[in-house]
This record gives sequence, structure tokens and C-alpha cells, in this order.
Amino acid sequence: MATVTRKESIPVGELDLFFTFTCLPRLPQLNSHAMAGIILKGMVGLVTGGASGLGKATVQRLVRNGCKVVMFDLPSSEGQKVASEVGGGCVFHPGDVTSPEDVTSAIDAAKNLGNLRVTVNCAGIGIAVKTYNNHKDRIHPLDEFQRVIDVNVCGTFNVIRFAAREMAKNEPGPSDERGVIINTASIAAYEGQIGQAAYGASKGAIVSMTLPIARDLASCGIRVMTIAPGLFETPLLGSLPEKVRTYLGKQAPFPTRLGDPAEYAHLVQTIVENQMLNGSVIRLDAAIRMQP
Ligand SMILES: NC(=O)c1ccc[n+]([C@@H]2O[C@H](COP(=O)([O-])OP(=O)(O)OC[C@H]3O[C@@H](n4cnc5c(N)ncnc54)[C@H](O)[C@@H]3O)[C@@H](O)[C@H]2O)c1
Repeated sequence: MATVTRKESIPVGELDLFFTFTCLPRLPQLNSHAMAGIILKGMVGLVTGGASGLGKATVQRLVRNGCKVVMFDLPSSEGQKVASEVGGGCVFHPGDVTSPEDVTSAIDAAKNLGNLRVTVNCAGIGIAVKTYNNHKDRIHPLDEFQRVIDVNVCGTFNVIRFAAREMAKNEPGPSDERGVIINTASIAAYEGQIGQAAYGASKGAIVSMTLPIARDLASCGIRVMTIAPGLFETPLLGSLPEKVRTYLGKQAPFPTRLGDPAEYAHLVQTIVENQMLNGSVIRLDAAIRMQP
């Protein structure tokens, strides 16, 4: 890449300051307005936890924008039904994110649709158990802690490693990119509440692994980002009484409501379209900071 260097004197007050400008040649630019929605057209995506909540909204948005998507979720999920609702471009692949065999077969299913370019990790579970409950003299069962770490951390990483291997084979797209991986943490990574030791630890791990994985995969032209949602109106919260949901929504300074899963999906699209987003975590939370 040829660079041009020039020196200029610029008057600042009574001083003449010398600046050295190094002009880099123009990089291939993606005009964000012109490209909105267009980038996704024809791409192949894999969305884990795609049968419900944030994952389902992501599948819907990707398909609406012309992506072909493998919706990966547990066999017990509503995946098949949701895939037929979403229609053309969406294939349900049942499996467990913690299983290497299930994940490789989901990647194979994506390969049948074309080149895998987008992977979104939404599969996750949560529990509410205190480290030690002195009223009941009950300690946190270790297997319950391990299960949350297994699904949320190991499951996410399991998907990332196989997706990265597949994406690395892609022909580079504009600006040498081969793929984008988006994970889902939670604001519990920062403000875990009572009973969220396991959940908070798992989401904190997802936050912490974002940068090292982005660094690992940079040489392959693969970007890695994480979204840390606040409170979103998914089946998880939808099952709570209206009064409780309204109360929870009011905890957010502005807008004082629960998030719409479509707003999460919108951010997924933005991340795919904006190449400068890499190696970091975006809170999507209406400025909420959870109390103990
Ligand atoms: N809804 C919120 O307010 C909120 C807030 C912060 C973070 N999150 C995170 O966002 C993600 C999605 O949450 P949601 O609210 O959409 O939940 P959800 O329960 O509606 O969806 C999660 C999906 O993951 C699937 N899943 C669970 N374990 C799996 C496994 N082992 N293999 C494959 N699929 C599995 C489930 O079947 C389900 O369809 C989760 O990681 C959750 O922790 C949600």
C-alpha cells in the first residue's frame, strides 16, 4: 500500500505548529446507507436458540433481508413450527450447542445453503439459585452451576470454533471479510442479581472471551462481537404477570419499557453491516443498571 507523507505548518494562536500528515490510499468503502440490507442479501446464517425470543427475532430479520438461515435449537423446542412460519430461506436443525456432533451437522446444513457468513449465538439458559440460602440451609448445587456454564459458555464456544473453521474457507468479501460471529451475553455480566452467580459468571465469560477470540480470528477475516441485552420481552419474561413486566420495564431510565426482540435483531444487522465493530461488547439496555 503506497503512502504519501507531507509536512505542513498550521498557525495555532501565536505558534506555528508543524504536523506531519500521512495520507493512506482510500480503503474500499462500504456506504452504510446504500449497503443497509443489501449486505445480508444472499448470505447464509446460523442462529442458535433460533426457535424463541431473541434468536427467533434474529432469524426473522435475517430471512426478511434475503439471508438463508439455519435455525439451530433443541429438538424439544418449537423450531420446526417456527421455521415453517418464517417460511422460505429458513431451515430448522435440531441439536444441542454443547454437542460437537450436533454443531458440526448444523454447520453442514448451513453448507448446503451456501457459504456460512453470519453466526449468531442466542442459545442460553438461566437459573435463580443463591450461593447459600441460610433460611433453608441449602448450598448452590454444583451440577446446576456447571450446567449453566456448560450451555452458555462451552456451548457458545463450541459453536464459535466450528463456525470459524467453516467461515475461514470463504472467499473474502468486500474489505477482506470472511464472516461475522455475534454472541449474546447479558447485563448480568456486570450487575448480576441475587441468585445469578452461575448466570452472571457465564455471561461474564462470554464478555471476556470476545476480545481474545476476535484477536484469534482476525487473521482469518472474521469479526467477533457480543451483545449484552438488558430486559427483553421474550417468552422468558412473557410468562411473568403483566404487573411484574411493567414493573421491570419501569426500571429502565429511558425508554421505560422492556426491549422488543426486534430491537436486538436490528443490532445484529447493524453489526453485520458495520465492519468497524469488532472485539467488543455492546450493552443494549435503555441505561438500566440492575439493583441487587
Ligand atoms: N430476554 C432477556 O431479557 C435477556 C436478557 C439478557 C440476556 N438474554 C440472553 O439472550 C439469549 C436468548 O434469550 P431469550 O430471552 O431469547 O430466551 P429463550 O428462552 O426465549 O430462547 C433461548 C433458546 O435457546 C434454546 N436453547 C437452550 N439451551 C440450548 C442448547 N443446549 N442447545 C440449543 N439450544 C438451546 C432454547 O430452546 C430456546 O429456544 C440467552 O442467552 C439469554 O441468556 C436474554
